[in-house]
Amino acid sequence: MRLSEKIEKALNAQIKEEFDSAYLYLSMAAYLKSKKFPGFAKWMEAQMQEEFTHAIKLYSYVNERGGRVVLEGLKKPQENWNSPQEVFEAAYAHECYISDKIDELVRLARNENDNATEGFLQWFVNEQVEEEASTSEIVDKFKFVGESKNGLFMLDNALGQRGEK
Ligand SMILES: [Fe+2]
Ligand SMILES: [Fe+2]
Repeated sequence: MRLSEKIEKALNAQIKEEFDSAYLYLSMAAYLKSKKFPGFAKWMEAQMQEEFTHAIKLYSYVNERGGRVVLEGLKKPQENWNSPQEVFEAAYAHECYISDKIDELVRLARNENDNATEGFLQWFVNEQVEEEASTSEIVDKFKFVGESKNGLFMLDNALGQRGEK
């Protein structure tokens, strides 16, 4: 069964949210680079790539269900923060915002009796649990490190290991 118009519109809106997320994280990476934190920047670049794959996952699903993907313009992302810690706090807040969006989509799919979409969205529900956990763990580490330059240097190193295991 083809996607209902309502679901199609909502999934298209989520594609934009995922691209906006990718764009925001790239902006965060650029800020972190400019402040000479290559590890934090690398972590954010990897995060950006993940958001891109989320958008493509939705794109493929809409097409698979006979829907029409229509792209919207991207939101101009914030470009400055006061510290790397503030960047990761903003990333955590952004993930919570996206989790709300996914939950809204699940509710809509349920109301529309679209079981396939509800099932498809479960992957995103689980992904958001991970995304919230990983960003909030990093915020905790920043709080632990506090004002220590040495600690910040080590944390930058540690986050730069992402994807290298
Ligand atoms: Fe995402
Ligand atoms: Fe995310």
